[in-house]
This record gives sequence, structure tokens and C-alpha cells, in this order.
Amino acid sequence: MPDTNLSAQIKAAFATVDIPGGGKLAEFSGLSEIIVTQSAIAAAISIAPGMEAAFGPARAEAQRLAEGLAEGRKVMISLTADKATAAHAHARQPGPPAKEIVPGVKHIIAVASGKGGVGKSTTAVNIALALAAEGLRTGLLDADLYGPSVPKLLGIEGKPAVRADGIFSPHLAYGLKAISIGSMLTADQAVVWRGPMATAALRQLLRETDWGGLDVLVVDLPPGTGDIQISLCQQVPLAGAVIVSTPQDLALIDAKKAVDMLKRVQIPLLGLVENMSYFVAPDTGKRYDIFGHGGAQDAAGRMGMPFLGEVPLVMTIRETSDSGRPVVATAPDGPEAAAYRAIVGQLLAANPGLRS
Ligand SMILES: Nc1ncnc2c1ncn2[C@@H]1O[C@H](COP(=O)(O)OP(=O)(O)OP(=O)(O)O)[C@@H](O)[C@H]1O
Ligand SMILES: [Mg+2]
Repeated sequence: MPDTNLSAQIKAAFATVDIPGGGKLAEFSGLSEIIVTQSAIAAAISIAPGMEAAFGPARAEAQRLAEGLAEGRKVMISLTADKATAAHAHARQPGPPAKEIVPGVKHIIAVASGKGGVGKSTTAVNIALALAAEGLRTGLLDADLYGPSVPKLLGIEGKPAVRADGIFSPHLAYGLKAISIGSMLTADQAVVWRGPMATAALRQLLRETDWGGLDVLVVDLPPGTGDIQISLCQQVPLAGAVIVSTPQDLALIDAKKAVDMLKRVQIPLLGLVENMSYFVAPDTGKRYDIFGHGGAQDAAGRMGMPFLGEVPLVMTIRETSDSGRPVVATAPDGPEAAAYRAIVGQLLAANPGLRS
């Protein structure tokens, strides 16, 4: 059955759900589009802050009705307090909302960048593999709604299994427990799944995945400083963020924007990785600093965070990334894997708590 039909059926079912103040959920202006994908059904109900408890029964009833029609899909019906009114509420009662730990996860590291295409996902995957190689139980969450790439990078196919109790079982790839928001979406759906829907999906991927006891969860964020980034920073206590940048000045200006955002929300800056740092000619072995090398190291100092290391621009990294055979796992003794391992070595030396 086409997804749009199912979406319409669910909406019709919501016409029986009472909401506070009278009326039915199907007609409520705060009800988002009902998104139906191959593996998930999602909708958000935007309400005024403080109305969460009053809307609880309506949400639960909507969840129950959608589950009855879901044909095995995971259902995520969420309540969100809308932004304009939330800003208001914060003005009245200062102090950030409480952060909650993620069950089964000791430490969460976000991998962020100011702009796209700097190699953030490649770095996130290989850093996660290098952490696993250090003996840490490691997971990877792909939170890049608009360009999920972890399935491709790890060679993951299909949607994650959903247990009988509705909890996702993450994929297992090269020793990593991995889950991607990309498995939930088709390309056209990512465009409409934004704002409260995106943050609700992130919350549920984090909290309704059976991580089964991880030392570290690496989160690959979308580029920039949007809803997902801010939401992750506000929802969970983060061990900190690793920033990926290329050496170009322009990229560093963008990196600074990401850093400023993270500082504003008081996320520890674990350090900067300079990716595509230099090029080594495969024939002669000669090194070329094609982008003007060293920019990231200076910038890290200026931005007040450690410089974790550099990753060369090499064909092997591109080829192994694009074919789902990440270099740290498939060529662990090569120079590329050594670069990622050195970065993780710096990270663990400066943050020994990640091991405990
Ligand atoms: N060190 C490297 N050497 C060679 N190619 C690289 C390197 N790092 C990343 N790449 C390649 O650059 C491209 C972009 O990398 P990646 O997808 O990791 O970037 P991203 O910052 O996550 O991008 P997006 O903003 O789209 O999420 C990919 O084709 C990847 O294989
Ligand atoms: Mg990416």
C-alpha cells in the first residue's frame, strides 16, 4: 500500500482522539505531517510549554492507534513545545532543561563541522573504529538527516530490526553498533522531516536503541549549527565534541561558527581534526601541502581547544569510505589507519575518563 494512503488512514484515526480544550487531534493545528517511511511512522504534536502532561493521554492514544496500523513499522509520535513559546518559557524560568543520560551508553562524543563535505562522516566512522580498536565498546549514531552516509561508509544495508517491545536493534558492522537516521528515511522524506520532527526522531533513535552497554557512542552530526545539533547538545550530557575541518581558511571560518555554538551551550571542545590536510603523491611519496597546511593547528589554539591531529588526503580513504570498507577496519596497519589511531590516542590521553 502506498505510504500516502497509510498516512491518510492514520490521520483519519486521529479524528477520534480528544485533545485538551476540546476538539480532535486530526484537526489540531499543532499536528505535523504524518510521515510514513519503510521502517517508521513519525509525527510531532507541537504544544505550548507546560501542556505536556495535559496532552500526554492524547499522545498515548495517537501512538496506540498508529501502532495498530503500522504493519511492523516503528511508531514515533512525539510532543514538542514549539520554539517561539519555548523561548518565552525560558525567559520566565531560567536554567537549561534537564539533560538525561542515554540508557546503556557511558559517554557520547559528537563529531561536528562548520560546513559540509569536509570529511566529517569519514572521520566519525574511522574514529569510532579506532576507539573500538582501543578496546572500548563503541557505537555510531548517524544523525545527519539531510545527508546520512553511515550506511554507505559501513556497508550497512536495510533497516534496523525492531524488537517486539519496539526498541531498535542496531546494526553490527566491523565491531561497531551502528544506527542511521538514513535507514528510516527516503531522500524526499528528509526534506520534510525537519524542526521538531527531526529532533524527536533523534531523541528516539538515541533512547530507543538497544545499545547494550557502550563505553562510547560517536554521533555524526549534520554540518553546521541547526536543530539537530542544538537538540543533541540540550538533550544529553555530551563528553564533548570533535570538530573536523579542512585546512582552507574558509572552512575554518565555518568551523569557528560551530565552535561558537558549542561554547554557547557549554559543550566541552575535545579538539580539532584537520582532514584532507596534505596530499601524498602515490608515485613519488612526495608530500604536497595543497591547501596551505597548518591552518587548523593554529586555529585550534586560537579557539582554545586541543589539536588532535591531521588526516592526509589520500585515495585509499576515499575508496574505502565509498565502498563501505573503512580504512581503520580494513587496512589497520596502513598509514591512514595510523593517522586516525594517533588522533584517538590524543583524545584518550587528554580524556582518560572515556575509558571508564
Ligand atoms: N582524508 C580523506 N582523503 C580522501 N578523501 C576523503 C578524505 N576524507 C573524506 N574524503 C572523501 O570526501 C567525501 C566527503 O566526505 P564525508 O562524506 O566524510 O564528508 P562530510 O563532511 O561528512 O560531508 P557531508 O557534509 O555531506 O556530511 C567522501 O567522498 C569521502 O570519501
Ligand atoms: Mg557526512
